[in-house]
Amino acid sequence: MNRAHALQGISWPDFDRLEIGERAPYFQRDGRQYHALISQQFDRAFLDRMCELATRTRKIAKTRGGMLFLQGLLAEKRAMLYFAQPSTRTFLSFLSACQILGLQSGEVRDSKTSSEVKGESPEDTVRIFSSYYDLIIMRYPEGGFGDRIAWLLSNTDRPVPVINAGSGKDQHPTQALLDIYTLQRSFEAIGGIEGKKIAFVGDLARGRTVRSLAYLLTRYPGVKLYFVAPEQLQIGEDILASLDEYGVSYEVTDTLTPILPEMDAVYMTRIQDEWDTAGESRSIGIDEYIIDADRLQHMKETAVILHPLPRRNEIAVEVDSDPRAMYWRQVRNGMWIRAALILHIFERDAEVDRYFDDLMR
Ligand code: CP
Repeated sequence: MNRAHALQGISWPDFDRLEIGERAPYFQRDGRQYHALISQQFDRAFLDRMCELATRTRKIAKTRGGMLFLQGLLAEKRAMLYFAQPSTRTFLSFLSACQILGLQSGEVRDSKTSSEVKGESPEDTVRIFSSYYDLIIMRYPEGGFGDRIAWLLSNTDRPVPVINAGSGKDQHPTQALLDIYTLQRSFEAIGGIEGKKIAFVGDLARGRTVRSLAYLLTRYPGVKLYFVAPEQLQIGEDILASLDEYGVSYEVTDTLTPILPEMDAVYMTRIQDEWDTAGESRSIGIDEYIIDADRLQHMKETAVILHPLPRRNEIAVEVDSDPRAMYWRQVRNGMWIRAALILHIFERDAEVDRYFDDLMR
């Protein structure tokens, strides 16, 4: 059956000229999310649906019968995990999500082990993957590469969906999905994410998770965002422009102490010095933002601390056992929301709903 891929209707030069936010409709098939590449493509209804589907899937997985049902859902599909940059959580949570849903998987975690060393282009390499696999989950050091691959594959006779598992300094949309899922669960009993004050702290200039999450938070009325960083590591003007466009309130500051008692969530990040060209991060300190036992005393009892991880010293280990430390749960939430996304892409979500409804009867 021929399915209508929006990317088939546009030439590469015309697509490449579009602003990022204008690209979102092109990542759909038959009006449904198909490629998952940028946060801007996810609206509020989609976010609510992903959270619901993740929770239903994790509840079904609690029994042996439920797990066997889930493992049969995508047993005829295969996924390629192509990680051209290091990863622990994103790789393993996608791998685990595939295992939960019965997808067989293959992996390339180092381009030096592929025929790219013989001069094969990354585009050809991914096209080869599409000959063997039904889904490509891809981390790549260059922003926008996933868009190019999605366009390329959508215009072959074997279009397969592409998920962005982290692209350069630019986007990490599935991390943003798990961050939203964690916030939604954390604030379930206190009015949801709407109206909450959320501080982003650390290296905001090069933190792709912060960028992707900031876009998603525009979907929640009344939120106020605080960007806490030294001037050299402050959030990009493009993100602030996007917040202005959606009427989201924000403050940009280099001090955490005065705002901390008001915050409902604090999203910590490490220095992203892998992007340094000449060790420039060495002269920039973010130690004054460290969350430790002393700082915890100044936070609300209902506040939560998030971190995409890996961490260095921005959160003291003594904080790990505090009920407000949500970063370990974030890790596990990632597996369930990624399973939900894969279910959505392959249109198996209705089967999960039916099983869940039967379970609840
Ligand atoms: N949060 C995150 O992307 O972690 P990894 O780099 O380990 O995948």
